[in-house]
Amino acid sequence: MSNENILEVQHVTKEFPGVRALDDVSFQIRTGEIHGICGENGAGKSTLMGVISGVHPIGSYEGTVLVHGQEAHFRSVRDSEKVGLAIMHQELALSPYLSIYENMFLGHAKTTLGILDWDDLLEQSRGYLKRVGLTDPPETIVSKMGVGKQQLVEIARALSKQTKLLILDEPTASLNDEESEQLLDLIMELKNEGLTCILISHKLNEVLRVADRITVMRDGKSIRTYDAHTEDVTRSMLIKDMVGREMNALYPEKTPNIGDPVFEVKNWSVYHPEYHDKKVVDDASFFVRRGEILGFCGPMGAGRTELMMSIFGKSYGSRSEGTAYLHGEEIHFASPHDAIKKGVGYVSEDRKSLGLILIQDVKTNISNSSLPMLSRWGVVDDDREIQAAEHYRRSLNIKTPSITQLVRNLSGGNQQKVVLSRSLLAEPEIFIVDEPTRGIDVGAKYEIYTILNDLAAQGKSIVMITSELPEAIGMADRIYVMNEGKIKGVLDRGEATQEGIMHMALS
Ligand SMILES: Nc1ncnc2c1ncn2[C@@H]1O[C@H](COP(=O)(O)OP(=O)(O)OP(=O)(O)O)[C@@H](O)[C@H]1O
Ligand SMILES: [Mg+2]
Repeated sequence: MSNENILEVQHVTKEFPGVRALDDVSFQIRTGEIHGICGENGAGKSTLMGVISGVHPIGSYEGTVLVHGQEAHFRSVRDSEKVGLAIMHQELALSPYLSIYENMFLGHAKTTLGILDWDDLLEQSRGYLKRVGLTDPPETIVSKMGVGKQQLVEIARALSKQTKLLILDEPTASLNDEESEQLLDLIMELKNEGLTCILISHKLNEVLRVADRITVMRDGKSIRTYDAHTEDVTRSMLIKDMVGREMNALYPEKTPNIGDPVFEVKNWSVYHPEYHDKKVVDDASFFVRRGEILGFCGPMGAGRTELMMSIFGKSYGSRSEGTAYLHGEEIHFASPHDAIKKGVGYVSEDRKSLGLILIQDVKTNISNSSLPMLSRWGVVDDDREIQAAEHYRRSLNIKTPSITQLVRNLSGGNQQKVVLSRSLLAEPEIFIVDEPTRGIDVGAKYEIYTILNDLAAQGKSIVMITSELPEAIGMADRIYVMNEGKIKGVLDRGEATQEGIMHMALS
């Protein structure tokens, strides 16, 4: 690996109204390395990548960005693409209704006299798809594929643009373990072929596995860069730099106080939206008790989200059958709104499409499931709305200059905290959370775990879907294991191990 720097950031400062997102940041990326970047939610990681890649144009920040030693004056992402940079954002950016190869060449294909030769592009796409290991036909419509594959398309797109430096902003946040492994292996392979990579991730193990060097950011500053080849870098070293203090435990202590069953589901099945005889959830039965935290584990596609969504009254699939009981009485939720009214809250895993209204402010997003509660004579009481929003801003430590900030201006992890606040405000008795800590940093995870434990201590019941087995083991009183639409078994706190859960899923 040569020591020449492909990219150099010198004294970059970037402010948004009320926020100094980057504060005199300097660091270098060496040609051919994988450079990991870690930092808490709101530390400035995505903003820094925006400066590097022209999302934030020249003039909107102070300081200098050098690419191959040349000062860069990017006015847009297109300018940075011309010198070989490509960025894969935290949220996917493909056009869902176009095919793989159309997405790959959209906006940058070479034309002959202004005419695109789609047959030629189709041919070319095959080579790049092979390189990223995607076997689906290039004509496949992107929305029919899972997130993991869509990311491979984005990487293939980057390669087709002759990218030299690829920036990946939390690429594995919505991938399962296997897909994450594949993606990381691919990045390593591409590195061996000469590609330079910046990898932002909250999954420190991943960063430690693949990165040559790691930079930690905190409060808009670059705190320190480690060289993984010469230093023995550990998780706890990174965490300490990220949060500015030692963190001894990843999961808060608790003494469960569990009562009688409150909510029970019997023989629940959900049929596939297109293939009407196929079951995506097959005869699932479970119950949750007062004060209990349930974990739901299983591989991606096990049917966990479909099960919970269909119970919650969100029509999923062509139809569903089965019965649910709340306090022993049969209950049916006509819609998510109805479920909330009856005391069941659901925090979806997909904050973008099901969770937030990005163009509204933090306060409105927090209050909008609880307006009746915050109203008097049918009119929303502004003071109470503000109080409620301020309460959650403090208790969940939502990083925003004010509760009137638009949600789209918050960092990814802080958006997730807004989603949680909204459901908490409705004070559900049964609280279903789907991947509640996805994209959330270690410190904030601890805060969320503490909140869930407190809710349980108050006698609420929590159903937590999680793909992170250590999280289920650290938090749940009982763990249901699902796979292929079926509940394969249940494990008590204390008897659950990662291997045990995986065995049960595959049994
Ligand atoms: N367009 C914007 N307008 C106003 N403030 C912004 C904007 N973009 C980012 N910020 C603020 O800048 C700070 C840094 O945000 P950034 O998205 O860079 O964090 P991050 O490190 O990527 O966090 P995460 O891990 O949650 O994705 C945050 O306080 C955020 O609210
Ligand atoms: Mg970010």
